[in-house]
Amino acid sequence: MKELAELFTGINNVDRAYYIGLMSGTSIDAIDAVVADFAPFPPHCLATHSVPIEPALKQRILSLCSPGENEIERLGQLDIELGQQFAQAALEVAKKAALNIEKIQAIGSHGQTIRHEPELLYPFTLQIGDPNTIAQLSGITTVADFRRRDLTVGGQGAPLAPAYHRWLLQDRGGAVVNIGGMANVTLLPKDQSKAVIGFDTGPGNVLIDYWMNRAYDKPLDQDGAIARTGKVSEPLLSEMQKEPFLHQPPPKSTGRETFNATWFDHHYSAIAPPAAEDVAATLVELTASTIAAAVLSQPFESRSLWVCGGGAHNRFLLERIAAHLPGWQVETTAAVGMAPDWVEAMAFAWLAYQTIHGRSSNLPSVTGATEPVILGGIFPASRKNSR
Ligand SMILES: Nc1ncnc2c1ncn2[C@@H]1O[C@H](COP(=O)(O)OP(=O)(O)OP(=O)(O)O)[C@@H](O)[C@H]1O
Ligand SMILES: [Mg+2]
Repeated sequence: MKELAELFTGINNVDRAYYIGLMSGTSIDAIDAVVADFAPFPPHCLATHSVPIEPALKQRILSLCSPGENEIERLGQLDIELGQQFAQAALEVAKKAALNIEKIQAIGSHGQTIRHEPELLYPFTLQIGDPNTIAQLSGITTVADFRRRDLTVGGQGAPLAPAYHRWLLQDRGGAVVNIGGMANVTLLPKDQSKAVIGFDTGPGNVLIDYWMNRAYDKPLDQDGAIARTGKVSEPLLSEMQKEPFLHQPPPKSTGRETFNATWFDHHYSAIAPPAAEDVAATLVELTASTIAAAVLSQPFESRSLWVCGGGAHNRFLLERIAAHLPGWQVETTAAVGMAPDWVEAMAFAWLAYQTIHGRSSNLPSVTGATEPVILGGIFPASRKNSR
């Protein structure tokens, strides 16, 4: 069978292994871009680039994350605007890698999630950043909309990165935790014939960032310095730990639909308000304790935990996770050769690589899907010689 890329563009050589990964997560902090070369193993990251998302744009994205007036119009506009920004980020990272765009096989674009509703009668998940625009403006074939196919076979559509962790770490047994806006865990058994377990554990940085913004007018708690000065408020912690999602068995995934300002206010208003730094410490404790509880909830032989995502920079958070996991070695993914800031973007470059080669990349043991499927849609580049 002809490779998909050949069928679509007629020009791409599928042996070419340069892929761009674009990621913009639930923190809505930045568009992260990488150029990956999948020809060697382990893959090589040629260049990285991060474009901060300005507060006004973040606000417009956030306003689409919950129901509001004139949504379709606002969504349609933002879809194109983000598509343009993603294309620009792709071109900039290609330039940093000193690669002509003809050499790049495809972009894997996650898109910006504005809704994730895997439990509805008609489950759906929506990532925006128009891939037609990305392919047209960049001149690079674009793979996008990775999550929805998994939903069609009964999966959560998330998390998807565990398949990349498995591919990359092979028989290296251990747990990977990505701490972005939400946190997700991957449990990799040493024996590769055993199923990988992976699921969202709950909030990662999202509530910490929210509180920093509200109480300190800061986007984040640099290295966890403010939380470190606080004391955990047991009433607030136990109030928040009542959240049913935290007690559900996997497969499960979550987002800003659950963990948002309204959710926090609901719990915060149920108790006597603690000092601001105590709230910060309590939110770190919530993230740390739910990650640790998730890891310990599954039978698992390894005692290594590797952390990636922006939360890997929060030293206080890492210390609190380690405190909940006595006997475990808690380090960042740098210990296993994965630069913690770029794992998610690398994962989406790899997901595009899989799709272009016609290979499935959802793990049914993780998402709960009934079968493996090829993820995403392919939006071919229109280069001069393919017209
Ligand atoms: N130096 C730091 N100290 C504390 N927290 C940090 C630091 N650097 C980043 N962070 C946290 O990491 C967050 C960004 O993480 P990241 O980009 O991995 O999340 P994301 O965009 O939601 O991604 P994803 O959804 O893919 O996991 C910031 O919003 C902030 O909370
Ligand atoms: Mg981010």
